[in-house]
Amino acid sequence: MSLITRLKDYFSKKSDIEEQIEVLAKQKQSKMGKLTARQRIEEILDNGTFHEYDLFVEHQAVDFGLDKKYLPGDGVITGTGTILGHPVCIYAQDFTVAGGSLGLAHARKITKIMDHAMTLGLPIICINDSGGARIQEGVNSLAGYGEIFYRNTRASGVIPQISVILGPCAGGAVYSPALTDFVFVVDKISKMFITGPEVIKTVLGEEISMEDLGGARVQAEITGNAHFYAETELECFEQIKRLVTFIPWNNRKKADKFPSIQPKSLFQIDKIIPEEPSNPYDIRDIIKAIADNSDFFEIHELWASNIVIGFVRLNGETIGVIANQPLVLAGVLDVDSSVKAARFIRFCDAFNIPLVTLVDLPGYLPGVDQEHAGVIRHGAKLLYAYSEATVPKITVILRKAYGGGYIAMCSRHLGSDFVFAWPSAEIAVMGPEGAANIIFKQEIANADNPNDVRKQKVAEYTEKFANPYIAAAAGHIDAVINPLETREYVLHALQIAENKVDNVIHKKHGIPPF
Ligand code: HXC
Repeated sequence: MSLITRLKDYFSKKSDIEEQIEVLAKQKQSKMGKLTARQRIEEILDNGTFHEYDLFVEHQAVDFGLDKKYLPGDGVITGTGTILGHPVCIYAQDFTVAGGSLGLAHARKITKIMDHAMTLGLPIICINDSGGARIQEGVNSLAGYGEIFYRNTRASGVIPQISVILGPCAGGAVYSPALTDFVFVVDKISKMFITGPEVIKTVLGEEISMEDLGGARVQAEITGNAHFYAETELECFEQIKRLVTFIPWNNRKKADKFPSIQPKSLFQIDKIIPEEPSNPYDIRDIIKAIADNSDFFEIHELWASNIVIGFVRLNGETIGVIANQPLVLAGVLDVDSSVKAARFIRFCDAFNIPLVTLVDLPGYLPGVDQEHAGVIRHGAKLLYAYSEATVPKITVILRKAYGGGYIAMCSRHLGSDFVFAWPSAEIAVMGPEGAANIIFKQEIANADNPNDVRKQKVAEYTEKFANPYIAAAAGHIDAVINPLETREYVLHALQIAENKVDNVIHKKHGIPPF
């Protein structure tokens, strides 16, 4: 038999085996309501663009019967393809092969495709569906994780890293997604935890289901580990495709430019804020009234929703928006909202995405819980992220901007390039009620009619300070603008700031309050 015939024979045999494996895999995965690793890759990428590498890599492990086990692809599929024409690197762990567990060969396939992504300047998509370190391979599996974490960290801020949790992501394996930029979860399918229910039961005697411990909803709503939540895998893949349109391939590029489309007339920017200054409204309506085509791609929608973050396009260019949400806790800053916004700001800054901040908050959330949860340390992350960011930064103060909240929300003092305020803005050390109670304490206490005096003092303070003109007179804001002019002012400011040069002081790196 010629070499060619033997090779042909070899490959056709391989593909027969693979076909059988795929059929079994499909059956096994669909029993769990899941797609196979290969189906997932094919659904995410443009039709027919997937090129697989290292299909024939096999493990060399011998202990615990592994020497007799053929593990196709060693439980992970790696390769490249495109999403809406964008080249990406991708890998998907295959739970049907030894539970997608990570041995040395499996890890080496992953680190190889990660290295490609770094060298070629491409985003990487990491689909996790695994029982964690392959127990039979011992320390070699742990080494594999370490090498992945090392690359996740080196790649941070260089290429976008996207993690998709489509099955278990157990033990130390969770730290790869945690080091990446965006984490996607799917209802009833994603499960992330460091120690599983069995361990918790043994050590603590507490019973908890895997779903309640680290299911998709928990990760998207309570822990904030997940940025995007979907009901189905296909919905999740649509979210990934949409995300990719907003971000650049790497930190040397800008995101793709799209045609500029006017916001929809449905969102009337001057009619959204209620007359009564303490009444809530949905900040997303203001964002949509400013954004191209009123299109807002929200991130971390279910977690720390007193702050809203996400991408819009302005004049066709991707912009990161950070905005207080008066609908939730009056839009106060707290531990979670500070962390949420800070991380997003750092992503945008690393990937050349300008920032627009919309301000309406009464300040920080008071209380023992917040103090003890470390609001000082975590709140500082937001100040650090804004101050450190060198992309164009535009701030619009819509209504309340009191105390530390005024400073923290990208004030001029933290390096905002342009700060605008609506006539409804209230910029002061604190709200009129609190201020009057403190500075007129004696006068109110000594009055025959304390309530009337308090009301009068609150009115005086409101008249004097609850407006944008004192800040404007001091030059802390650049212009008091009509709400109807907001989009035009922001577009102009972005245009003016396009070639911004902000020389970073030479240092190895800063020391943010991690
Ligand atoms: C080797 C594993 C495995 C693992 C699962 N399998 N996890 N093989 N190493 N870590 C294999 C099973 O033996 C089984 O093989 C197949 O995968 C499917 O597993 P099942 O248990 O039948 O599936 P299911 O009931 O769906 O449960 C999935 C699971 C469970 C919840 C993930 O398998 C599990 O608890 N696995 C261990 C999880 C864990 O503790 N990992 C942490 C390891 S330590 P067969 O041949 O029967 O199909 C770690 C530390 C890393 O990861 C530290 C880095 C810093």
